[in-house]
Amino acid sequence: MEIREYNRTAWDKEVERGNKWTVPVSEVVIAAARQGQWEILLTPSKPVPGDWFPDLEGLDVLCLASEGGQQGPILAAAGAKVTVLDNSPRQLEGDRLVAERHALDITTVEGDMADLSMFSDQSFDLIVHPVSNCFVPDVLPVWAEAFRVLRLGGGLLAGFSNPVIYLFDYDLADCTGVLQVKYALPYSDLTSITEEERQRVIKKGIPLEFSHTLEDQIGGQLDAGLTLTGFFEDAYPEDENDLLTNYMPAFIATRAVKLDHKIGEKDLT
Ligand SMILES: C[S@@+](CC[C@H](N)C(=O)[O-])C[C@H]1O[C@@H](n2cnc3c(N)ncnc32)[C@H](O)[C@@H]1O
Repeated sequence: MEIREYNRTAWDKEVERGNKWTVPVSEVVIAAARQGQWEILLTPSKPVPGDWFPDLEGLDVLCLASEGGQQGPILAAAGAKVTVLDNSPRQLEGDRLVAERHALDITTVEGDMADLSMFSDQSFDLIVHPVSNCFVPDVLPVWAEAFRVLRLGGGLLAGFSNPVIYLFDYDLADCTGVLQVKYALPYSDLTSITEEERQRVIKKGIPLEFSHTLEDQIGGQLDAGLTLTGFFEDAYPEDENDLLTNYMPAFIATRAVKLDHKIGEKDLT
């Protein structure tokens, strides 16, 4: 199955369904960002700390798999030159409309988060990558490409799910309110469920998802050459009544930088 092609159509459908991650921010939010009052999300609820960002004025920022008219327009209104790369034409269309409406410096590119070959080495000062790598089967190429296109001193701000969210039988949880472990990790919509269950997902046109180990999510960034400088956990907002949120925060955000050397090569000698 061609995952990227399937997920392209599935995310186009999410736009039609009004998924909240496809709804652009309001004019008020853009106007405030122009005045220096802004925040963005990498995970469902908790804004990214302000001190995770450099001064954005004139910086080249890549919003990676981050369409939907949220992070890109805010960062552009705050002064950055923004490129947004995403796999869904409908999502890209949304950001283009917002950019035109508000005369924002945003370039939209259709592509795969794991293949940034359209960008030269060291093209960006900052990469913003909200929760989205659950839609690709392998996250390591995403970190390698992010490292390559970052300039020295540049930063990667990433959000991703704790793989624990993929353990449970959510059909059962919906009926009984009980979270029962069902799936071994790493989870894959291609191999963890039965053919019948997969056909149901495909019939509904829901994006296919894959869990990634924390070794790949965090160790993968380190192995790509990045140095982690920030970390927080987050959960769904209370009004979403997510069962797991009663027990633990299920999302993670990291701040990583591209230094001229890996910590450990010089610093620990
Ligand atoms: C949950 S949305 C994230 C965007 C949103 N602005 C946010 O704040 O989280 C996930 C995005 O990942 C994109 N996506 C899925 N697979 C992709 C791939 N292989 N390459 C690039 N983007 C992809 C989808 O099209 C969708 O726009």
